Amino acid sequence: VNVQLVHRTGYHFQPKKHWINDPNGPMYYKGFYHLFYQYNPKGAVWGNIVWAHSISKDLINWVALEPAIFPSKPFDKYGCWSGSATVLPGGKPVIMYTGIVTPSPVNTQVQNFAVPANYSDPYLREWIKPDNNPIVRARSENSSSFRDPTTAWFDGVHWKILVGSRRKHRGIAYLYRSRNFLKWTKAKHPLHSKDRTGMWECPDFYPVAPKGMNGLDTSVTGQDIKHVLKVSLDSTRYEYYTVGEYDRDNDIYVPDNTSVDGWAGLRYDYGNFYASKTFFDPDKQRRILWGWANESDSKQDDVQKGWAGIQLIPRKLWLDPNGKQLIQWPIEEIQLLRGQNIHMGSQVLNMGEHIEVKGVTAAQADVDATFSFKSLDRAEWFDPNWAKLDALDVCDWMGSTVRGGLGPFGFLTLASEKLEEYTPVFFRVFKTKDKLKVLMCSDAKRSSTTAEGLYKPPFAGYVDVDLSDKKISLRSLIDNSVVESFGAHGRTCITSRVYPKIAIYNNAHLFVFNNGTEAITIDSLDAWSMKAPSLMNNN
Ligand code: FRU
Repeated sequence: VNVQLVHRTGYHFQPKKHWINDPNGPMYYKGFYHLFYQYNPKGAVWGNIVWAHSISKDLINWVALEPAIFPSKPFDKYGCWSGSATVLPGGKPVIMYTGIVTPSPVNTQVQNFAVPANYSDPYLREWIKPDNNPIVRARSENSSSFRDPTTAWFDGVHWKILVGSRRKHRGIAYLYRSRNFLKWTKAKHPLHSKDRTGMWECPDFYPVAPKGMNGLDTSVTGQDIKHVLKVSLDSTRYEYYTVGEYDRDNDIYVPDNTSVDGWAGLRYDYGNFYASKTFFDPDKQRRILWGWANESDSKQDDVQKGWAGIQLIPRKLWLDPNGKQLIQWPIEEIQLLRGQNIHMGSQVLNMGEHIEVKGVTAAQADVDATFSFKSLDRAEWFDPNWAKLDALDVCDWMGSTVRGGLGPFGFLTLASEKLEEYTPVFFRVFKTKDKLKVLMCSDAKRSSTTAEGLYKPPFAGYVDVDLSDKKISLRSLIDNSVVESFGAHGRTCITSRVYPKIAIYNNAHLFVFNNGTEAITIDSLDAWSMKAPSLMNNN
C-alpha cells in the first residue's frame, strides 16, 4: 500500500501535496468561484503560510493557479494569514487578510488589503498589496491575538468588518468602520465578546432570511432578517454560532435567548470542522459554507504522506423555519460526481441485524437514507445526569454496539468485511419526561486497527428534530479518510477523519445496521459511487 496515496480523498478539495488549513476569501467573480486557502508551499506541517488560489465554474472541478498572496512586504513579512473577500459596488473585489510583522513566537498581527492587478482577468491571477498597508493595527488590543478580518458589509455610509481577538480569556470580535475602505476606525464597543471562550479565530457575521433556503448578500438588512455570528475557538478547536438580532445603525448584536452563547452553543459540525467561512453566491442566490478538516493522524504520518488537511464539501446553509438554528446541505453540484446508483427500499432491520449496501465503491460514496419505525415507546430513558455531559461522552460510553431501544441504527462506513474496522454513523433516540432527545454520533474508535498515532474520537451532537412522523434521514459523504454526515436533512452535521488499514479501496464496505430492540425500516436508501473531479494543474 502506498502511504502517500491510500488516505488521500477522491472528491474532496486538496492540493497534490503539502499542508493546508483555513479556506480564505471565497467569492464568485465573472463566472468563476475563487477559493484561496492557507498553504505551506514547503512541507506537510504548518508554516511559511501563503494564500494558495484555485478557481472553479462549479465548486467541484478546480484549476490551481499560482499563490495569490505571499510574504513580500514589511507588513506581511512573516506570513499571510486568514482573511476574507468583499465585492465592492461595481463588482470590484478586495481582499483583507492578516499580515504577520514580527517573527514567531510573538507574531504581531496587522490587517492588510489587496486588490486585483487586472479586473478584466476572470481568474484574478495577480494581486497588488498597496504600500499604504497595513490599514488596521492593534493599539490597546492584544497584537498577538488580532486577526482574520471578515467580509465587510455596508450600511449606506460605512463599511464594517470584524477582527477576531481576545482579552485574557475573553473572546472578542472587534468592530471597525470605514467610509472609504482605507481608513478604518475601531468602534467604541466590540460587536460581541464572551468570557471564558479564549481567542476568537475566523469570525463570520452574516444575515439570514427568516424563510426559504436562499442566501442574502452580506450587506442586506431589513425587518425579520436575522444575523449569525460564528467564531472558531482556538483553545478547543471547535466553532460555535449564535442566531440573533443586529441593529445596524447602532451596531448592537444580541443573540436570541434560544441561542447558547458560549462553548456549549450550536455548532456547524460536531466533528472535525474548523476555521470555516461563508460567502454569498450571487449566481445561485445562496450562502455557501466552506470548512477545513485537519488530519487525525500524527505529524510524522503527515510528513510521510507528504500532505495534510482537506477542504470539506461546500454546504449551502439557511435558517431553520423555527428560527433557532441553521440547516446545512452539500451543494447540489456534488451530484455531478455521482456514478453507479444502488437503490433499496422497504427493508426491515430487526434487532442486531446489519445488511450490506452492495454495488457501489464504498470507499468513495454518497449514501442517503430515510429510516422509519412503528413507535417511539421503546426509546430508552435519558438519565437527567447525562444532560451535564457533552453529547460526545454519551456517545463514547454507549457507542454503536451497546443495545438500545430505538437505536442505535444507521450506517457502518469504511468497514472491513469482518468488521475489524468501521466508522459507525448513527442515531440513538432517548425520552425524557416531556420530550425526545435524539443523539447522533460518528464514532472513530474502531475506524482503524492501527494502534499508534491516530486520534480516534467519538463525535456527537443532539438533533433537534420532530419525530412525530416516525422517520429520520441520514446522509454520509464517504471519501477514503473522511466521513461527512448530515442528520435529519442537515439539522446536525458531523465530520470524522479516519485511517483504515483494511477497509481501503475495494476492501471497504458499507452496511446499514440496527442494534436497538425496536425494528427499523429502511424506507428508502440510495447510494452512489462517487467519481473523481478534475483538479487541473494541481500544485
Ligand atoms: C485558524 C488560524 C487563523 C490564522 C491562520 C494561520 O486555523 O489559526 O486564526 O489566521 O489559521 O494559518
